[in-house]
Amino acid sequence: MNPPHLAIAIDGPVASGKTTVARRLADRLNLLYLDTGAMYRALANVALHTGTDVDNEPAIARLLETHRIEVGLDRTAPLGFRISVDGVELAERTLQSSEVTAIVSTIAAHPRVREAMVHEQRRIAAAGDVVMAGRDIGTVVLPGAPVKIFLTASVRSRVARRRTQLAAAGVDVDEHRLFEEIEERDRLDRSRAVSPLVTAPDAHIVDSSDQSVDQTVDELVTIVERQRAGGV
Ligand code: DC
Repeated sequence: MNPPHLAIAIDGPVASGKTTVARRLADRLNLLYLDTGAMYRALANVALHTGTDVDNEPAIARLLETHRIEVGLDRTAPLGFRISVDGVELAERTLQSSEVTAIVSTIAAHPRVREAMVHEQRRIAAAGDVVMAGRDIGTVVLPGAPVKIFLTASVRSRVARRRTQLAAAGVDVDEHRLFEEIEERDRLDRSRAVSPLVTAPDAHIVDSSDQSVDQTVDELVTIVERQRAGGV
């Protein structure tokens, strides 16, 4: 599927820096921004509040019919976009809570959940020029995206970043636990049957381990400009 608008797909593992980088890139290029992980996290939060068994795929998929998860693209919003459930906007603290994080990979592995999310993400991308961050944007959601980035970083730097990110959101987690959590979520994201985390063959692989956010964003801007100029 070729999106009619400019779409920049940014995929990568947990804490590779993709949401920060994607948002900054969107600001630099004056594009809209969406972190698709927030949609899976919003559903995980509904599952928590309704006491739904996370392994029960039909019950989890039904939550998408009984609850309204809405996304609004607005770079001035605290997250860089808005996401609400039944009209109530979710804050980063809720989306990044350890309770949500503990179950979100299981929820994101259900094929029926993915189908609904991918459908919605394509609809969003068709409405405007967007930088979309996730795990399967370049491979499944927008395989026709003209620019695809696969952002990687060493586990050590990802643990450090995740810790900083969580601390800023008011969540305190110890380093050892974070290390284990990141490795486990990587394993789940890469091994799931539907849309596992893989690098699109036409993605630019960017390793941000030893780069500042600005350096990574500069590298991405160069890639986008080269692509727009007709290069590779
Ligand atoms: O990027 P994140 O940690 O907020 O993602 C939360 C979960 O959602 C993670 O387990 C991977 C999953 N996810 C996905 O499967 N596909 C996406 N496009 C985005 C996130």
